Amino acid sequence: MEIVRIDPLEPDPAVVRRAAEVLRGGGLVAFPTETVYGVGANALDAVAVRRIFEAKGRPSFNPLIAHVPDVERAMRLTTSWPDSAARLAERFWPGPLTLVLPRAPEVPDEVTAGRGTVALRVPAHAVARALLQSAGIPLAAPSANRYTEVSATTAAHVVKGLAGRVDLVLDGGPTSVGIESTVVDLSGDQPLLLRPGSIALSDLREVVGPLPRAAEMEDETARPSPGMVRRHYSPRARLRVFQRSDRSAMAEAARAAVERGARVGALLLEPLNAPVQHAMQLPADPEPYARLLYSALHELDDAGCDLILVDAVPEGGEWLGVRDRLSRAAHQD
Ligand code: TXA
Ligand code: MG
Repeated sequence: MEIVRIDPLEPDPAVVRRAAEVLRGGGLVAFPTETVYGVGANALDAVAVRRIFEAKGRPSFNPLIAHVPDVERAMRLTTSWPDSAARLAERFWPGPLTLVLPRAPEVPDEVTAGRGTVALRVPAHAVARALLQSAGIPLAAPSANRYTEVSATTAAHVVKGLAGRVDLVLDGGPTSVGIESTVVDLSGDQPLLLRPGSIALSDLREVVGPLPRAAEMEDETARPSPGMVRRHYSPRARLRVFQRSDRSAMAEAARAAVERGARVGALLLEPLNAPVQHAMQLPADPEPYARLLYSALHELDDAGCDLILVDAVPEGGEWLGVRDRLSRAAHQD
């Protein structure tokens, strides 16, 4: 496995060409997008796509996002392009939005997990864009982490999870958005929000009108967003979220854990009066919070924390993506 630095704003064409060759040859390349790092393979090559599932330890019923350089290429992978898709793409592509649409026949079952739909995204990151242009193929790319673990926002995170499991890692520095793309399902009668991301709910609703969240079903194989297992994006440490009104309970939990000999980390919005070994203060604003969240979780894991205490983030549509990731990271099973 090779790790190559690449300028995130002006990627070196020679490096991009080499990575594109690896991809065209059926290999796996980890690369930065504006959300998180992805581990990519030729989306039209079933054998290459199977290697992604092996590398991640991901169950094959969980479908992948196909990344394309523009709307025209997205339209080739679907049999329908409703007005809602056109408007969302116009407003948010290239960017951190994924659209689920009826699949075209040439998309392999390995990408769609045998479903009738395919997830499509046009990323904005210059490295991802250059790679898509140079390779000339759609790239199936899930987040570049082992299944259920915290996504990678730096090349070092990628290496931590997938060392030796991919052919090439393009190191373009830390990603800017920090949490995975918003996923909207446009394949049914009504648009559905499958996964909140960094785009505010109000901005999405401005474009498509009402946007209910897909119901969360207990049986993962039956749910509309197969990736939405409750426990996901999880650090090794146990994570507990405390409402801001419960700060005394949070301090108490910290004291009790430290007394038991546990190593305790905290993701705080304001200082905590308790003997926590690894307290990290995060910004009280959803964008910078999202950008730093996964690095903070990786750091607390690396520090050997057994327990991470987290200040609940505010209610409100701009925090939806962050709230979703925190509650999944906190889920026990
Ligand atoms: O920001 C992102 O979306 C990153 C970067 C690399 O693009 N990718 C990413 O991929 O997060 P992944 O595979 O970790 O998450 C994709 C999500 C999963 O929850 C998956 O179940 C859902 O999209 N998904 C993919 N195809 C789908 C489909 N046909 N129908 C419903 N959900 C789908
Ligand atoms: Mg993922």
